[in-house]
Amino acid sequence: MPTIYQDLFQFSSHVPLIDLSFHQYLLSADEPLLVHTGNIQQATALVPRLKAELKDKVLKYIFISHFEADECGGLTHILDHFPEAKPVCSEVTARQLGGFGLTNEVIIKKPGEELNAKDFTLEFFSYPSEMHLWEGLLAKESQRGIFFSSDLMIRFGEADGTVVESIWQTEINNIRAEQVPDPDQRTKLQQTLGRLNPRFVAPGHGPCLKLL
Ligand SMILES: [Fe+2]
Ligand SMILES: [Fe+2]
Repeated sequence: MPTIYQDLFQFSSHVPLIDLSFHQYLLSADEPLLVHTGNIQQATALVPRLKAELKDKVLKYIFISHFEADECGGLTHILDHFPEAKPVCSEVTARQLGGFGLTNEVIIKKPGEELNAKDFTLEFFSYPSEMHLWEGLLAKESQRGIFFSSDLMIRFGEADGTVVESIWQTEINNIRAEQVPDPDQRTKLQQTLGRLNPRFVAPGHGPCLKLL
């Protein structure tokens, strides 16, 4: 399977009923990183594909941007197959994972902190995404310039392996009130993102974006 950008693999499925694609990503670094597990059905389909791409590498990290079925519903199944992998998430997400009995072994990150692996660096930003606007995380891989936008910067339609061109500031401006309903938090998020300079957006849904 070809990568979608540098050493980033995308695993995708499309749900016709809502015409939405769902992606998980594998950053095939020395210390491999999975971005989202998919829900349980998606994770079940993902495991053999992940094993095929990982070959003899051991999955080390699982980034979870927020607590929702398509972002981490398949976590137990993934951990059954990759028991050495550690979820990386916000404090609120960690509380949910523990509360639902999924796992207590997580790496908690705060906005502004980084995850420094052997050959990638994730920087974290606040993502008011959970129920009650609780804090999730967005992440940018700073060596390759990949922004993992989760449920932001998304589009409907089939999008398996699809990359379209876009402009970073346009994507930021298009973050809608339904996505971050609190106007102050939305403005703050847009200001924070405006200071970043990624080259590629890997969203949870819809085409990836090659930034011009
Ligand atoms: Fe979500
Ligand atoms: Fe999602």
